[in-house]
Amino acid sequence: MTKAPDQPGTRQRAAVLISGRGSNMAALAAASHDPAYPVQFVLALSNRAEAPGLALAATLGLPTKVVPHRPFAGDRAAHEAAIDAVLHEADIQIVCLAGYMRLMTPLLVERWAGRMLNIHPSLLPAFPGLDTHARALNARVRLHGCTVHLVTQTMDAGPILAQAAVPVLPDDTEGTLAARVLAQEHIIYPLALRLFALRQAGNVPPGDAALLNPAPSPPGSGNPLRADAALP
Ligand code: GRF
Repeated sequence: MTKAPDQPGTRQRAAVLISGRGSNMAALAAASHDPAYPVQFVLALSNRAEAPGLALAATLGLPTKVVPHRPFAGDRAAHEAAIDAVLHEADIQIVCLAGYMRLMTPLLVERWAGRMLNIHPSLLPAFPGLDTHARALNARVRLHGCTVHLVTQTMDAGPILAQAAVPVLPDDTEGTLAARVLAQEHIIYPLALRLFALRQAGNVPPGDAALLNPAPSPPGSGNPLRADAALP
């Protein structure tokens, strides 16, 4: 039996932007296969023709498009204008970045302000930027995780929509920690997007960001994410 959508009216049309393997793209596409999910993915767009996620998208029945950045020879705004044209052509309402490895200029950020989400593999504001898992291990944090946030001009600093935390275990390597975080990414991104879309449609009152696996924050213990923080 077909379930009724969470919201009356049409589902919002979304595109996912990728540069690599596309596992978050697959998680989002899988969620949107449910007719009750308020967002429908209609496009996977990549700046790299060789991105493995493009083949994955094809197996998921997700139309793909490549807008390579190289022909634009460093003119980031022109590349983004080309992407923007594709998004408009496809009548996209929400853009989800999922391992899209290009810094954005104001052109795309401003045009999609409040309608562009990203997933980042750390508990922001900790560890913005690259190599988050190695940096988390080096910093000896006890908790690590992932964050879904709105994209603003400052990298990895937009309003947080959802976070999930995982423990950092004593014998963790970058690989084991990354895998533990990635499993949570695949849960939290579809969840955050669903709440975002429902809120946009006025079906959920505005509220705080969702937090999965919340860690206790003992009063007066300093930063509870530090391995040397006092425990209760
Ligand atoms: C993920 O770790 C995501 O948090 C980061 O880039 C990675 C993309 O992985 N932004 P995938 O392509 O979704 O598998």
